[in-house]
Amino acid sequence: MRSYKAKMVEPIRLPSREERSRNLAAAGYNAFNLDAAEVYVDLLTDSGTGTMSDAQWAALVRGDEAYAGSKSFHRLAAAVDDVMGFEHVIPTHQGRGAENVLYGSLLEEGDVVLNNTHFDTTRAHVVNQGAAAVDCPVEGAWDRSAEGDFLGNFSVERARGVVDEVGAERVPVVVLTITNNSAAGQPVSMANVRATAEFAEEIDAAFVIDACRFAENAHFIRERESGFEDRTLAAVAREQLSYADAVTMSGKKDGLVNIGGFAAVRDPDLAELAKQRAILYEGFPTYGGMAGRDLEALAVGLREAVEPPYVAERVEQVATLGELLSEADVPVVAPTGGHAVYVDAGDLFPGIPPEEFPGQRLVCELYREGGVRTVELGSFAFPDADRPDYVRLALPRRTYWREHLEHVAGTAATVRERADEYAGLEIVSEPPMKELRHFTAELRPL
Ligand code: F0G
Repeated sequence: MRSYKAKMVEPIRLPSREERSRNLAAAGYNAFNLDAAEVYVDLLTDSGTGTMSDAQWAALVRGDEAYAGSKSFHRLAAAVDDVMGFEHVIPTHQGRGAENVLYGSLLEEGDVVLNNTHFDTTRAHVVNQGAAAVDCPVEGAWDRSAEGDFLGNFSVERARGVVDEVGAERVPVVVLTITNNSAAGQPVSMANVRATAEFAEEIDAAFVIDACRFAENAHFIRERESGFEDRTLAAVAREQLSYADAVTMSGKKDGLVNIGGFAAVRDPDLAELAKQRAILYEGFPTYGGMAGRDLEALAVGLREAVEPPYVAERVEQVATLGELLSEADVPVVAPTGGHAVYVDAGDLFPGIPPEEFPGQRLVCELYREGGVRTVELGSFAFPDADRPDYVRLALPRRTYWREHLEHVAGTAATVRERADEYAGLEIVSEPPMKELRHFTAELRPL
């Protein structure tokens, strides 16, 4: 059941097959280089691409554009306090701005940060401070055949191993990313949030939650972890964050907005430090790179994100896309996580070795067959990591209908039927920073 209907629509068009083939070649076989107008169903990301509610659009008009102390800032701060339980809020232009502000205040050269799995920009900001970013996922996080309700969890055992090696004094920050975007969007249990918090306390580290998808994570806790089924989604969402000393937030995900984010902290001294850094990189600490109207939309979006029908439908839609793909014999990570379906392109194209980028071939063929845009998160995006060749199909929030999902599954089924016909790809040009190559590199078919 849908608890909303459309009242504003945006036309989309499926270019002809010849056009799509031409576009693909012109884009250097990299979907980031395609124009949005050339894409029919855009599953590149769930970040900033969702649909705002009428209440959010109405709130835009109330935007107070005062440079300092705007009414809009106070409305956002109240929403963050009510929904997430943090008193000190520092707005930023998006999630990575919050990472810069917070990690720039917490880290020094030579430090080590532990995270269930660092998202790309989180890792980059840790490294940018001269610190090392170490992932501590649980066993099975990368194994499609592994079973578990909370494969996004943080492995305290692995983390202890790292601390034994480097010494607790070098680990000032422990991070939990909920849900775990880099591990197929799998959720983190409340028990694991508590255990990670205890571990951080034990080694005297700050405990930070990357809360981008906090509402989706709370939904899974209610559904799968005993003792939470009778609690409200809002209460569970708040409890999981209550153990953290700080959060970084990309409003472009569970803030239900197109742009914006913030860092929020408990300690007033850390808040002061972070504000100084925000002034340098983001803007005065009551707007942080956001327009007053954007602060308003985020304030409303945060409250909508923990309304039960919204999240349930959201997660259910992702599951539906996973089921449609499974029915078409396309290998997906199941059960699906909160925001995306991950297809195992290594399994789909066993004849293409990782160094010839099976995932990127799938990205190209989903576009060529159906104008569907997705993103590779395997050997092309992470050259040095030993990861499966997954392709992520991320669903923008409140945006596509079942017909779009059926089109995507039908497209993937056609690609699967021709799986033997495809060869790999090779890189023809790439930027100097290897970590960023999948955004702009150009390739050609072998
Ligand atoms: N943390 C996580 C877990 C994320 O998924 C993202 C963004 C960020 C931080 C950074 O937030 O984009 O607002 O600066 N993820 C997007 C994605 C880009 O497609 O997964 P941002």
